[in-house]
Amino acid sequence: MNDTAVTTTVDRPFESVARETARLLPPGFELGVAMASYQIEGAVADDGRGTSIWDTFSHTPGKVARDETGDVACDHYHRYREDVALMAELGVDAYRLSVAWPRIQPDGRGPVNGAGADFYSRLVDELLDAGITPLVTLYHWDLPQALEDAGGWRKRDTAHRFVDYALAVQDRIGDRVRRWITLNEPYCSSVLGYGTGRHAPGVRDAGAALAAAHHLLLGHGLAVRAMRERDAEASYGITLNLEPVSALRDRPEDQEAARRSLTLSNLVFTDPVLAGTYPQDARRIWSAVSDFSFLQDGDLDTTAAELDFLGVNYYFPARVRAVPHREPDPALRLVDDLGAAALVLPDDEVTEMGWPVDPDGLRRLLGWLHETYPALPPVYITENGRACLDVVEDGAVHDEARIRYVDSHLRAVAQAVESGVDVRGYFQWTLLDNFEWAEGYARRFGLVHVDYDKLARLPKDSFSWYQALLAARRP
Ligand code: FCB
Repeated sequence: MNDTAVTTTVDRPFESVARETARLLPPGFELGVAMASYQIEGAVADDGRGTSIWDTFSHTPGKVARDETGDVACDHYHRYREDVALMAELGVDAYRLSVAWPRIQPDGRGPVNGAGADFYSRLVDELLDAGITPLVTLYHWDLPQALEDAGGWRKRDTAHRFVDYALAVQDRIGDRVRRWITLNEPYCSSVLGYGTGRHAPGVRDAGAALAAAHHLLLGHGLAVRAMRERDAEASYGITLNLEPVSALRDRPEDQEAARRSLTLSNLVFTDPVLAGTYPQDARRIWSAVSDFSFLQDGDLDTTAAELDFLGVNYYFPARVRAVPHREPDPALRLVDDLGAAALVLPDDEVTEMGWPVDPDGLRRLLGWLHETYPALPPVYITENGRACLDVVEDGAVHDEARIRYVDSHLRAVAQAVESGVDVRGYFQWTLLDNFEWAEGYARRFGLVHVDYDKLARLPKDSFSWYQALLAARRP
């Protein structure tokens, strides 16, 4: 791989930059936006919705910044028509949404709650009427609390519960939804949810995190098989958040640290899904915290169930150096206590999340996937975007940094395609400012500003830029 930097400037009027970027993308390349149920819907008690782990977590003092919750969020549940109209105005080809499991099965098992399922049915109809293709994620982190009370993703049974739920959703909207994503970022559900405790359900147990990661992937594979058996014509995929990982320096200890980091952020997920193997390094790194008995015969055939596409979420790279473990006793280490630190370098531009900006990292990541996994299916970038310190001035938000971010990452995708990686589309994260998990509402990623008091939507400059890009691609 060469190290060609991807640069973009928006010094020129941004419509002309948009036109130029549009020309770099291959014909038929799909452009959209992504959002997720708990982050936007609100209406947490409407129409029989059950409690999810994120309701419990956000209502536990000290877990989310300023103790904010998704109780109201963007009130998308009641305002979805307005939001679909915004997407239509924007001109997107597709919208990646997620279904809240506790709206479909309030306790995570048993009969379907028709009123909850109807919401997604109405939403899908609204999208199709607007000429927007829905791409549906089944699990974007809102596990029914009742399943967590029974052990959550630590337990193998949850994988089977997920299959029942997936089939129930397919049954209700599968006549109109043709593309499915089983899981969003199982890394976050397992490592942040059960390992570091940063996310719901807030458990800090390295062995539980590894078991959860496996049970999530098992649920994914079982669901893909079961759904495909009922509908062989639809497409099925999974979304992984991945990082291009490199050692900061050419020292053996940094190389080793980078290897450990790669194992946790990528290989624990990519190997089972794309190669049907489990990384040997994982057994070595976490030998003191797990006996890996969660891996049963035949499981890796299941996790590697045939995929029509891979969803990739990319935000930042990991440049790694070796550091001492925080906990000297290996048996007591958290899952991410790897003796490795991913650094922000002095020259980095950094987002409001503290994440370094590196568009070329996306090109390198796609190259890595292409080289490492011969069976790599077509790829969609299912999330990419940045948080900015947006301010409303005279009824406008001039978020040039967001335009530069999305533009430069799209150009990096175009370069990856040019060098032979089969990337079919890109979903910007996200249409509306929303509930950014443990960070609450202060981190704004939207193309549309949301005033959380009035719930008013205000398109930012980046909205106009994306609109210009989308328009430039039409014949
Ligand atoms: C990803 C999540 C998404 C959003 C972005 C910023 O990890 O999938 O819900 O919060 O980060």
